[in-house]
Amino acid sequence: MYVLAITVLGLGSAEAAVYKGQKVYIKKCRKCHGGGLEVAASKKKRTWKKLLKNKGEGMAKLHLENKKAKKSHKYFKSKKFKKRARHLKDFMVEYAKDSGNVPACN
Ligand code: HEC
Repeated sequence: MYVLAITVLGLGSAEAAVYKGQKVYIKKCRKCHGGGLEVAASKKKRTWKKLLKNKGEGMAKLHLENKKAKKSHKYFKSKKFKKRARHLKDFMVEYAKDSGNVPACN
């Protein structure tokens, strides 16, 4: 659980966005996917950017087309998700597989 500590330590606006994204993740995604950093680190920056561009369109679609993700459909159709998608992207990109992000302030 060192995740929270890291993001709070570095306080620029970029870090604030990352932190917001992390909060969204914990609230909305963790119940199904667990972890956080692990999920972020499972894909490359490019993949996250692609999935989360246009207000998270790709990510929403991926869930809406999957019956197993039914419980998330309401959220992925909501305005809330669209508004937060960019924060989520900041978080995922920050800790992506190829981000080289060892926990530290830059
Ligand atoms: C109701 C449960 C549920 C919620 C909530 C949910 N997901 Fe998913 N997600 C799934 C399921 C089911 C899949 C389909 C793939 C699978 O079977 O694991 C999936 C797939 C994904 C994938 C693609 C997996 C891959 O390896 O290609 C990503 C990325 C993802 N979810 C991220 C998120 C994020 C970020 C959130 C929060 C905004 C979220 N999910 C919320 C259930 C959920």
